Amino acid sequence: MISFHYQNATAGRVGSDHGLSDVELDEAIARTGSLCSRFAQDAEKGTHGFMRLPRDRSTPAGVSAFARENRGRFRNFIQIGIGGSALGATAIHAALSHRFHNETDARPRFYVLDNVDPEETRALFDVVEPRETLVHVVTKSGDTTETMAGFLVALRRLKDALGDGWKKNLVVTTDPGKGFLRTFAREEGVPAFDLPEPVGGRFSVLTPVGLLPAAMLGIDPALLLDGASAMEAKCRRADPRTNPGYLFALVAHLLDTKRGKRIHVMMPYARALRDVGDWFRQLWAESLGKNPQVGPTPMLALGTTDQHSQVQLFNEGPNDKYVILLECEKFRQDVTVPEALPANAPPAFLQGRTFSQILAAMKSGTETALVQNRRPNATLHFEEISAASLGACFYLLEAATLYAGWLYGVNPFDQPGVEAGKKAAFALLGKPGFSPTAPLPEDPRYVVV
Ligand code: PA5
Repeated sequence: MISFHYQNATAGRVGSDHGLSDVELDEAIARTGSLCSRFAQDAEKGTHGFMRLPRDRSTPAGVSAFARENRGRFRNFIQIGIGGSALGATAIHAALSHRFHNETDARPRFYVLDNVDPEETRALFDVVEPRETLVHVVTKSGDTTETMAGFLVALRRLKDALGDGWKKNLVVTTDPGKGFLRTFAREEGVPAFDLPEPVGGRFSVLTPVGLLPAAMLGIDPALLLDGASAMEAKCRRADPRTNPGYLFALVAHLLDTKRGKRIHVMMPYARALRDVGDWFRQLWAESLGKNPQVGPTPMLALGTTDQHSQVQLFNEGPNDKYVILLECEKFRQDVTVPEALPANAPPAFLQGRTFSQILAAMKSGTETALVQNRRPNATLHFEEISAASLGACFYLLEAATLYAGWLYGVNPFDQPGVEAGKKAAFALLGKPGFSPTAPLPEDPRYVVV
C-alpha cells in the first residue's frame, strides 16, 4: 500500500558528512530498537489515544449512519475548527474527492473555516445558503476562540434562516464529557459525536473529526481505518529494521541531531497529497517543538510546482534540510499529451507521454539532483491514493511522531506553547477569568511609513 524508501539518506548516496552510515544506523538501532517493543505493548493496551482508533468499528458505523440520513439533505457542508480539528478533514477531502469537487454536481459542497479572517468568513456565507447547509463544529477543548467565533456566526445565520429548525443543520464533535460545546449540544439536543478524551487534536483525524466529513463526502470511513489498522500492525513489529514508523522517525531524528538537518521538508508529487503535507506539518511541529534544543522545523513543498520555487534552495542553499518526497505509482486518472505539433517542434518529445510519466520523471530528476548535491532525502511511496492508503499514511506518520517523541525525549502529546497563545488572546479579548492585558506597545522609531 505504502512503503518508505530511505537509501538516499545514507552515506552511500550522499556522503558521510550528510548521510547516515550503515554502522551508525546499526548502532542507533541497537541502542533504540527496543522502542518497537514498547510501541507494541502500548498499542496492545491502547496507552496513547490514537492507538485505539484503527480497531474502533463503532465510530465509522455511527458517522456512516449519520451521513446516510443527512447526505442527501444538504447542498453544503462546513467544518468549523482549527489545527487538528480542521487539517485532517481538509487532507481527506483533498486526497479523495474530485480536485474541483465544489464545482461539480457532487453534493454536499465542502468548506473548512479554520480562521477568523473577516473577508474569508463573509465570502463563505455569501456562497452558502444556511437552509441548505450542514455545519460541523469541531473542538476538543470546546472553547477555542477562532472556532467559537465561527460557530457563533454560523449559529446566528442558522437561527435567522430556520427559526426553531436550526438544530437540524448543526452537528458537533467535541470532548465526550467536558467543555462548553458538549454542554450546549446536550442542552439543545444537537447531534454530537465524541472526540475521545485520550486523543489529542492533531492525532484525531481518524475520529469523527475526519471520519464524519469523509462519510458526508461519500468516502467509506471504515476503509480509512482498515488502512490504519494494516499500518498499525507494521508499526508494532518488534524487528526495528522492518518497522516503518520507527525507521521514519529514526532517520529524521539522526539526520537532525547528527547531521544538522533541522528542516524537514515534505514534498508530495501528487496534488491530492499536498494537504497531507500540511497536516503533517502541524503534527511534526506541535508534537516535537518542545524546547530550544529540540524541534525539527517542518516545511511543505509541492512537486513539481515548487521545483520552480524552493528547489533551488534545497539543492544549493544551506545543507540543513531533509526532503521527504511523496510519490504515487498509479494515478486514478491520467492525461496523455496529444499530438498537437509537428514531430520536429521542440515540445514534440512530450507527445504520447502521460502526465504521470512526466511527473515521475520530474520527481526522479529532483531526487537525482538532491543526491548529486549531497542533500539527504527519502520517499514515501503510495501504490495508489485510496482511503486505505491514506489511512495507512495517517497512522504511519502518527506512529512516527510518537517514536520521534521518544527519540528526542519530549512529550509529543502536549502543546503548552499553543495554550499560551490562546490564553494571551483570551486576556486581550476580555474573556472573564483572564486578567485584561494590552497589546505590546510599539515604539515609532521602529516604524517605516
Ligand atoms: O493538536 C492540538 O491539540 C491542537 O492543534 C488543536 O487541534 C487546536 O489547537 C484546536 O483545539 P480545539 O480542538 O480544542 O479547538
